[in-house]
Amino acid sequence: MSSGDEPKPICEDHVIKGRRLSNRIRKGVKAEVEALVEKHGMAPKLVTLIVGEDPGSEMYVRMKHKASNKAGILSDHHGLSEDTSEEDLLKLIDELNHDKAVHGILVQLPLPKHIDEKKIISAIDPLKDVDGFSPGNIYRLFYGGEELSAATPHGIVTMLDAIGMEDLSGKHAVIINRSMIVGKPLIFLLLNRNATVTVCHSRTADLPSFTLQADVLVTAIGRRKAEEDPYYISADMVKEGAVVIDVSTPLGDVDFEEVKKKALCVTPVPGGVGPMTIAMLLQNVVDAYSAQIS
Ligand code: GUN
Repeated sequence: MSSGDEPKPICEDHVIKGRRLSNRIRKGVKAEVEALVEKHGMAPKLVTLIVGEDPGSEMYVRMKHKASNKAGILSDHHGLSEDTSEEDLLKLIDELNHDKAVHGILVQLPLPKHIDEKKIISAIDPLKDVDGFSPGNIYRLFYGGEELSAATPHGIVTMLDAIGMEDLSGKHAVIINRSMIVGKPLIFLLLNRNATVTVCHSRTADLPSFTLQADVLVTAIGRRKAEEDPYYISADMVKEGAVVIDVSTPLGDVDFEEVKKKALCVTPVPGGVGPMTIAMLLQNVVDAYSAQIS
């Protein structure tokens, strides 16, 4: 391969190009879908569900559909009213579980308070659980398997892999988040790569004492610190040469311009973790389809 054909680097000028990596993965997914349609005469299909009206959830789900369709994945959506009962939601999930034309089911979170999230997630057929939140898929992750793992944390470690950090032996990874969607699955994905992992959260005292130890810092706080000083993660909280991953959208936790001067690599917002989440979801839909069709 001549130097002109070299793929562009994922970390360039201290910035992790999440969109570049996402586009690369999505191109691969599209090619996989074409081959699967050719072989089996049926396209993979993702079905999403939202209960209630949340503009953020609606925007994220619209993006998931658009990306799916661009990759040749069919999609359908159920926008259910806020007062939908748990029983009706379980009935719909059961129908989708039994529908052979449906390969991926995604219930966008959060759900209204009257619905037991755990019960709903547990009702999804683990083979169709493209979020990786159901008990069977969490259990697999616990034992080191990464098939159908949660899209955002899987996107984060895929970025680390792409910048040559697939083995984190001797490295300290610090996560600021303990949610089921990001922090908890990420613990296991980082352990799989031999990192020493620390989890910080809203009740952690003296956050800088932890962030300053981080060779890999992943932050998903998602709130402004103050109007005049908005970023929770300032450059003086970051170790020289660290890799910094900012999960928060739409505004970001990290003082990107200042941290970039000190970090080995930092993700931008937008254009970092967000596009990776979409790419990993599409990969999960194709993997789920392959597992079901075989
Ligand atoms: N809400 C915020 N992020 C996610 C996600 O990755 N999956 C689902 N189902 N809901 C979310």
